[in-house]
Amino acid sequence: MGLDLFIKKYKYQLQAAMPNYDVAWEHSKDDPIVFEDGENVRLSFVSIADTHIAPNELSFKNLENIFSDCENSKENFDALLMAGDIAEYGRKKEYEGFFSVYDKQKVIPNVFLTMGNHDVRFLYKRNQKIIMDKVNEYLNIDTNGKSFYSKDVKGYTFIVLGTEKRVLEKAHITQEQIDFLDRELKRGTENKKPVFVMCHQAFAETHGLPEVWKTGDMGEQSDLVRAVMEKYENVFFINGHLHGGVFEKTLHILNEEKNCISLSIPSYRKQNNFGHQDCGVGYYCEVYDDKVVFTARNFLTGKSVENEFSKFTFKLI
Ligand SMILES: [Fe+2]
Repeated sequence: MGLDLFIKKYKYQLQAAMPNYDVAWEHSKDDPIVFEDGENVRLSFVSIADTHIAPNELSFKNLENIFSDCENSKENFDALLMAGDIAEYGRKKEYEGFFSVYDKQKVIPNVFLTMGNHDVRFLYKRNQKIIMDKVNEYLNIDTNGKSFYSKDVKGYTFIVLGTEKRVLEKAHITQEQIDFLDRELKRGTENKKPVFVMCHQAFAETHGLPEVWKTGDMGEQSDLVRAVMEKYENVFFINGHLHGGVFEKTLHILNEEKNCISLSIPSYRKQNNFGHQDCGVGYYCEVYDDKVVFTARNFLTGKSVENEFSKFTFKLI
């Protein structure tokens, strides 16, 4: 492949690999998060992705803004979903930074973590253990050495998928993990409640793949995992990795009849590639008896995101 073609093909990956110069973002208190109906919300969570924490104070400080933003709101938040690429290089110091920021905060009682390619591309075993040990500690569960797990919060099931070996940018999902997903989805949707599933990588041919990120999908088992998801109703899938931004491909309907939805969370630390491209953007989710609402939010600056793709409401079936 010629250099020109290579640059064109892998443009977005190359952009993300460029050194970026962190600044300390100021968090504003003027535009706090307000839920649609805070009195009747059953569950709420914040979802972010691709924090790519570097071993420097600015990087840690910018992560703190998420918690300042939640603290500045009158609403309550039950969980933080972090969709992988926690660290930039997978160094111990980067994880220590992430966890020390989480340890200091008092506003989000549960954190769900999964591994991204940046976390495990050099040292799979060591970093898998660092991350999963923290999952066990924070959620008070026993993942038993595995890279996947689930936990219920306020009666709602969260299922986290994770690669079981290093496969460049993709994930390796064993049959054991697919069977686990199937079982947990069956259990979680039995009472008609929505279930939330998270993995770093997206399903193949969703969210504009492969054009938006040549190597952005889950990999070989993508279709098998997706088929299991589509067996059940009101399933919400959350991924990171694509650094897409808030644009027309942020949301992907996997199965309309089943209300099976995929949401691709922008990168928290790096500039995103399409639409509203600011870093610091994630989505917060409000769960009601009859609907689920996802709203984009700049947690770094404490501001709403004005964009036609910044709010998605799904009626539960
Ligand atoms: Fe990634």
